[in-house]
Order: sequence, then C-alpha cells, then structure tokens
Amino acid sequence: MKPARSPERLANLRRLPGPVGTQAEEIPRGRGTASKILEVVPISAPRPLSAALYAEARQHMPGGVSSPVRAFAAVGGEPLVFASGAGPWITDVDGHTYLDLVGSWGPLILGHAHPQVVEAVCQAARRGLSFGATCPDEIELAREIRGAFPAMDLVRLVSSGTEATMSALRLARGFTGRSRLVKFEGCYHGHSDGLLVKAGSGATTFGTPDSAGVPAEVARHTVTLPFNDADALERLLASPGSDIAAVILEPVAGNMGLVPPAEGFLQRVRELTRQHGALLVFDEVMTGFRLAFGGAQELYGIRPDLTCLGKIVGGGMPIGAYGGRRDVMEHVAPLGPVYQAGTLSGNPLSVAAGLTTLRLLRQNAEIYRRLEEAGARLEAGLQQSARRHGVPVRMQRVGSMLTWFFTDRPVRNLSEARTCDTRAFGRFFHGMLARGVYLPPSQFEAAFLSAALGEAEVEQLIEAVDGTLAEMARS
Ligand SMILES: Cc1ncc(COP(=O)(O)O)c(C=O)c1O
Repeated sequence: MKPARSPERLANLRRLPGPVGTQAEEIPRGRGTASKILEVVPISAPRPLSAALYAEARQHMPGGVSSPVRAFAAVGGEPLVFASGAGPWITDVDGHTYLDLVGSWGPLILGHAHPQVVEAVCQAARRGLSFGATCPDEIELAREIRGAFPAMDLVRLVSSGTEATMSALRLARGFTGRSRLVKFEGCYHGHSDGLLVKAGSGATTFGTPDSAGVPAEVARHTVTLPFNDADALERLLASPGSDIAAVILEPVAGNMGLVPPAEGFLQRVRELTRQHGALLVFDEVMTGFRLAFGGAQELYGIRPDLTCLGKIVGGGMPIGAYGGRRDVMEHVAPLGPVYQAGTLSGNPLSVAAGLTTLRLLRQNAEIYRRLEEAGARLEAGLQQSARRHGVPVRMQRVGSMLTWFFTDRPVRNLSEARTCDTRAFGRFFHGMLARGVYLPPSQFEAAFLSAALGEAEVEQLIEAVDGTLAEMARS
C-alpha cells in the first residue's frame, strides 16, 4: 500500500514539476512521481484518526456522511476521512496517500486542486461570493457549454445534477402537455421524487417508489424499463394513451456500474421519441465533458432535445445545468410558463471553477486521447491478471469511466449487474485500498480516471490490480 506521507512530503508533492498552464505540455499529471515519492507501507496500516473522526461524524450526521454511498455499506469497513488532494492523489487524515479513482464521483477530470482552477476560485471569491444576479463568468460558462454541446441552444445554470434533471423534466412536461416519464432501470438521475422510482409489475405498468417518502401517486407517473431494451420502449410508446412527455437516460450508464449502450440502442431511442412526440433527455451529468468534450452525444452522434449536466461543468464546485432546443427552452421562466429558479444558481465561485476546467479541457483536447490510452492499458492489464490468476472479472469501460464486475459475462442492464459477485468486489475494493488505490466503494458505481494520472501511476494501478487478484485467488 502507499505510504504514510508527512505534511512536508505532501508539500513537496505540491511543488513537483507541475501543471497547469493551458498548453498541452503543461497539463498536470503524476509524471512518474509515484515511484519517487511513495514507499510501500504495511497493508494493515492503522487509520486511527479516520476511525475517531468517523465515530464523531456519526454523532452529528446520519450515518456519519453527507451522501449515502460514502458510508462504505456496500463493501464493509469504515469509511476514510480525507484531509487533502493533489493531482491524482488523495490523502487521508492519518497521512496515507492513495491514487484516487473516485475523483469526487466524476468532477475532477483534471485531478485534485488543479492550480489554475483553485486560483480562479480564489480570484472569484475576492470579487464576491454571490450576487444573485448575472455575472460575466456565468455568461462565458454558458457560451463554453453551448460550444461543446451544439444541441444546447440555450442553457440554464442550477446548483446540482439533481436540480438539472428535475427541472428538465418539468420543462418537458410543460412543453408537451403530457405527464408521464420514462426512465431506465439502473440509471440514476438524482434524488427528486419522480426519479426515485423502480419498475412496477410489468414493463408498461406504473412505477413504484424506490425510496420511503416518495408518494405512490408521484411514482405512478414514471415508467421504468430495462436499460438497452429499445423494444420495450417501442411497445410502451406505441400503446394507446401512453402520454409520455420525456424519455430520460444516461447515454452511458454509470450508476449501475459502467454499462455501455448496446449497438444501435441510442439511435433507436432517438427515432422512437421523435416518432411519438416525446422529448429525449440525455442525462450527461456524469458523461458530459468526460467521454468527449461534447459528452456521449458527441461520441455516439445523437442530438437529444434536452441535456442535463453537472459534475465536470463545475470543476469540483456545486453546479448543474440543463439546456437544449430553443423552442423548448423558451418555455422556461422568465420567457415562458415553466417555473424554475435558484438563489445561488450561476454562483460566481462554481462558475469560475467550471469555466477554467472547461477551457483547460478545450485547449488540451489530447486529454481525451490520453485518458482512452490509460483506460485501454488498465483494461489490458486486468485481462492478463484475470487470466493469470483465474479470477472471473471483467472491466467494462468507455473512455475514462469504468467498473470491475466480478462475472465472466457482459453486463448489459441492472438485472445482469445484480448477478455479479458483489462480495468479491468488496474484497477487491479493500485489496486495492491496501495497495494505495481508492476506488468507489460499490460495484454499482463507475470509477473515473483523471488527466492527472501519469504513466507511472497507470503502472501502479495495473500492479495493484494484479496483486489484489493474486491475493483473491489464493484465499
Ligand atoms: C447521471 C447522474 N445524474 C444526476 C446525478 C445527480 O447529481 P447531483 O449529485 O449533483 O445532484 C448524478 C449523481 O451522481 C448522476 O450520476
């Protein structure tokens, strides 16, 4: 595992030849620093400060966390408490440093505390924390988003991904005058009532609440279908009185683990929605600016009616955005009758972080090629290790989003994801943690590579996977 690191050593790390200009060669990466900086420490390194702080956190916060998956329920053990991050690394309060493949659940495509992003936020803070009125960076961010996503004629900024999807769907209803929604099982679109819904007894029946507190009357307006099943969507849309305002999906699903769209699935969803007058909403909160600068819609060549963004678009600060066809967006207040508002929407600090991140990505387009190469190396390494150690595990990956599924079959939807060996995933998670790699603590989450990973860090990941699978094969 990776090593306890003293504050001075962390300070040294921060001074390493570094990042962060807007030129390609200045992009922040690990740059082969892993072997120089890190030493192997015992796998069972104690984490007394994390344990004490987490015990304290449980006194004050439900489950000791501000968002449930952070509690490690899916993998067992105690969550870590983190003190700092720099580039591809994250350091816990006990001083252990890990290669971070969570990246704050996706936003940190440039790695932690990218100096230019941090500087932009500091400068913005000195100008004022919030105006509750339009500020110049906000306009620039909307322009950047529109440049990357040609399907977004107009953009509304909000404060989270949840707010973006919730608002986009209200707009879809207001625009079409219809009331029902379609989502796909295993896709997560935030925690608003109408989207915390699971399938009812049949594919075309009403949905049922997927959380206590969601009224059945609300869930009934959402139909849930299996991901990658365009035939089910066709049957639903063709049924009399289906009344579907919108079909929302993650074009590459990241919230049941990484599940790519089957060949032709997105195209058929596009055709069917157009044919039946329902709006197609791409939830690109995770995939936007991640799979390509223009997100999954650029990668797969699909033009949705509405797009939802979050995560990278705020560069690590709270933000969300939705937008799309001009005729649809003109229904949003103050132009139209669909109400949606926010005190901190377009917050200057979030906008400064997002704008700087997007500009760095646009000016360094080779980042996406590098991320693809790193992902491909990791995938090849996994295949070799899995064969060598005889462990049935496969990596599903699109670009820099990936999941290790403990199965020997492809995972195409949530039912198949549920058949995988999640206990084996838990062992894998802890084995990787012991080797200095911090993964999402659930098989039903995607891991993210960052542009801050250098070649040595990718090698370190491959070695950690190999060591962990060898250990799993032995026990
Ligand atoms: C695809 C997708 N949509 C929406 C959301 C909700 O975003 P937020 O957590 O910012 O509310 C998430 C969060 O993980 C997500 O992955």
